[in-house]
Amino acid sequence: MKNCFYVTTPIYYVNDIPHIGHAYTTIAADTMARYKRMAGFDTFFLTGTDEHGQKIERAAKSQNIEPLELADNVVLRFKNLWKKLDITNDDFIRTTEPRHLKFVQILFNKLYEQGDIYLGNYEGWYCTPCESFFTETEASEKLCPQCGRSLERLQEESYFFKLSKYQDRLLEFYEANPDFVIPNTRFNEVKSFVKGGLNDLSVSRTSFSWGIPVPFNDKHVIYVWFDALINYISAINYGCQNSETSKYWPATHIVGKDIIQFHAVYWPAMLMAAGIEPPRQVVAHGWWTSEGKKMSKSLGNVVDPNDMIDRFGRDQFRYFLLREVPFGQDGDFSIKSIKGRINNDLANDLGNLFNRVATLIKKNCSGIIPDTSGEPEVKINFEKMRESVDASMIKFDFLNALKAIWSYIRWVNKFITDNAPWALTDKTKIDNVLASAAYALHAIAFQLAPFMPDTAKAIKERLSDDAEFNWGNFRWDIRGNKVTKGAILFRRYELEEKSEKKNKEQKKESYISIDDVMKLKLKTAEIVSAKRVEKSEKLIKLELKLKDERRTIVAGIGKSYSPEELIGKHIVIVSNLMPRKLFGIESNGMLLAASSGDKLSLLTVDKVIESGSSIH
Ligand code: MSP
Repeated sequence: MKNCFYVTTPIYYVNDIPHIGHAYTTIAADTMARYKRMAGFDTFFLTGTDEHGQKIERAAKSQNIEPLELADNVVLRFKNLWKKLDITNDDFIRTTEPRHLKFVQILFNKLYEQGDIYLGNYEGWYCTPCESFFTETEASEKLCPQCGRSLERLQEESYFFKLSKYQDRLLEFYEANPDFVIPNTRFNEVKSFVKGGLNDLSVSRTSFSWGIPVPFNDKHVIYVWFDALINYISAINYGCQNSETSKYWPATHIVGKDIIQFHAVYWPAMLMAAGIEPPRQVVAHGWWTSEGKKMSKSLGNVVDPNDMIDRFGRDQFRYFLLREVPFGQDGDFSIKSIKGRINNDLANDLGNLFNRVATLIKKNCSGIIPDTSGEPEVKINFEKMRESVDASMIKFDFLNALKAIWSYIRWVNKFITDNAPWALTDKTKIDNVLASAAYALHAIAFQLAPFMPDTAKAIKERLSDDAEFNWGNFRWDIRGNKVTKGAILFRRYELEEKSEKKNKEQKKESYISIDDVMKLKLKTAEIVSAKRVEKSEKLIKLELKLKDERRTIVAGIGKSYSPEELIGKHIVIVSNLMPRKLFGIESNGMLLAASSGDKLSLLTVDKVIESGSSIH
């Protein structure tokens, strides 16, 4: 029987569209899944979406749609991106699917019946975007220690999971599994967190309804993390009769550093309570910044993987992400560095090696790999490289695996240069050098396949090998195969943009015509009343007077203005904006304000003029 390997990504929240962080985890998991499949493991690779919770409910409300509609839209964007990246997941789970819902309820019920879940009261500091409660110490600044946003004080009746009961068992488990969390520095953090004492975990909510109902008390919905973590076993139908996928458990979870605690503490404890083996491993990666800054919508620097794939190609994007930073550490994404990697590693090293070999074999051997076993050291060095790649991949060290492949690529390039077949006259020697180089290139394609599947396939096919990428199919010696040069594998990029020309073009693009201006109907308006919108930090509902007309608008100025100071101001609004609903209130127009960072300043009129006056 084949050994099983089960790898997962976190399931992604559907309130956000896919960004580089999501692509990173999924590419890493895909690379590992491909690598294991090639090594003969019976592999199962799972990804999916996390669709419940207050965050999703609120995001849907702000768009005036149902949470499931929001989820349906965003799920498509994830699925399309995975298709575009040729991600080889075996399943895609959505937490709103009945197969998952049923599973979560059964598990909740089981833990309740055996006394591991009980009813109590919860009061604490809650961060809605992170869906997490924090202790007094963690919340000393009333700001979320994870994302820095304001925390809310929440009190509610809640079911609790007896996490505290599992403290000792968790510590024993960690002791017995020294590689349970990698990197080790993160594992140490996990251990000291558990040693510091565990509180029971609140696992239900009554303050909103978008979630899986507690099976025996429908006033409560199950806490989104309790619900979400279970996806890893619900997707494989764990423990169910006739389940063909149960065998894959336990899984290796690839996650970002921010969600280790959920995976390395709460999740194994939940499984221990359920009598299920804990996960095999939790592998945590670091976070990407963009051009040196934290990615944020307001800075407009969120890296859209779709754009990067369109611009540079999917293999190039995969290579960059896995090669640029050590897995586990934070890294910075910049256009300059991706171009640098493509130019140096891909075009110069690999592209050049392929070109040289194809050209030389065409010229000297009529395009056919010569009939010789080649130089032994080329094969020996390949075997050393392969061992080194395997040693790195056990540790999820993608960077060093790629480095090992690249030192071999550079060595083969040097081997050709040093032997200078173009200057040789001895045909046996020429054949020997060129056959060796072709065998090496073919082996490089195999080694590279999990990381850069398209490139690897192109090289293999141009060396007339149609077998699937699987080490079981690998033959070093492919003498007699035809070599086709084909189109160049990688194009080079200018490192510096032709910035002036580009700026000019951009400027031209950013001009609008007088007709565009005339479409805007700007008017003055007097604020007659102002009130904060419930449950929103930013929004203020304003009643405006425009001559005899009264209208309501909802504006996101609540962080810069209090309602009281707004009353009586004569402001400027876009009066012909299509009405839209925000938090259930119809907003008829938009006020104008200048912004700089977090600061806002309203546009008002210089001298008092009748409200409702047109602005030209
Ligand atoms: N829904 C939860 C996971 C539940 S798993 C049972 C969640 N979703 S998420 O969409 O917010 O985040 C998913 C992953 O993206 C996390 O692993 C997170 O670390 C990762 N990233 C989010 N931003 C990131 C970067 N800027 N860089 C790298 N990864 C980042 O958490």
